[in-house]
Amino acid sequence: MSKPRITLLQQSTADVTDEEILDLYSTPDRSSPWLRVNFISSIDGAATANGLSGDLGSPADRRVFDLLRRLSDVIVVGAGTVRAEGYGPMRLDDASVEWRMQHGLPPHPVFAIVSSSLNLDPESAIFTGAPIRPIVVTVDEVSERRRERFSEVADVLVAGRSSVDTVLMRQSLCRRGLTQMHCEGGPSFFADLIREDTVDELCLTVRSVLEGPGAPRIVAGAPVELRRDFDVVHALNADDALLLRYVRKAAAKV
Ligand SMILES: NC(=O)c1ccc[n+]([C@@H]2O[C@H](COP(=O)([O-])OP(=O)(O)OC[C@H]3O[C@@H](n4cnc5c(N)ncnc54)[C@H](OP(=O)(O)O)[C@@H]3O)[C@@H](O)[C@H]2O)c1
Repeated sequence: MSKPRITLLQQSTADVTDEEILDLYSTPDRSSPWLRVNFISSIDGAATANGLSGDLGSPADRRVFDLLRRLSDVIVVGAGTVRAEGYGPMRLDDASVEWRMQHGLPPHPVFAIVSSSLNLDPESAIFTGAPIRPIVVTVDEVSERRRERFSEVADVLVAGRSSVDTVLMRQSLCRRGLTQMHCEGGPSFFADLIREDTVDELCLTVRSVLEGPGAPRIVAGAPVELRRDFDVVHALNADDALLLRYVRKAAAKV
């Protein structure tokens, strides 16, 4: 039997520009549905430092994080992450807005928040300061009255009975023309995306630190027996992190 192929990733000394990074992460056809997930972890697999992913971050991770937002039609985030990380309105920086306008895109992506409880404040800046009307992705079981609270400040999308079905969510976002879907977590929502096989791509920053025991992983929840295979598309090297791009071998379900 032949040996499995192993090659050395050569370190380049040339810095990559923002345009090159955008090219490295662009998808072949913007009109085809594509769901990208972005996470950061320490070398020993911690998804948080001091309880937050933000504390694991580094300037290089932030640079790619912002560029990935720039490429997206919609940023999808689980409500737990929105609450824990204190998300504000989905407003990109001036350079991103200019780039998007030059590329025929709306100035900002849509912010879609996934929640079955709707334990969110419609009077918070996420909604009242949003440059583009956000979407709240929720479930049938939530009362009409609770959904009504958001109708003035957001589009309420029902995709599932007691938990958001990520296949339905993907289809509904695509029907709105939001084909380039970018998910910033969190771990519980990622578990649903993996289970329902709706992930096309995982961007993972491996921050060069050990956090020790106790921290959660980038995926949470009850164990399930499944396996999804990915190809490594590229690895970018920053001073304190590796930025890895993985694409699903088989096409995602929808
Ligand atoms: N390392 C990283 O890159 C990274 C990224 C993101 C977050 N994090 C960390 O992860 C922690 C939060 O973890 P988490 O698991 O609570 O995050 P999460 O997945 O964002 O939040 C879970 C909540 O999101 C909603 N949700 C998720 N999936 C749903 C579904 N299929 N249907 C309906 N609602 C759904 C529910 O909200 P309701 O309760 O409102 O129903 C659920 O309670 C924070 O410490 C954060 O810092 C790390």
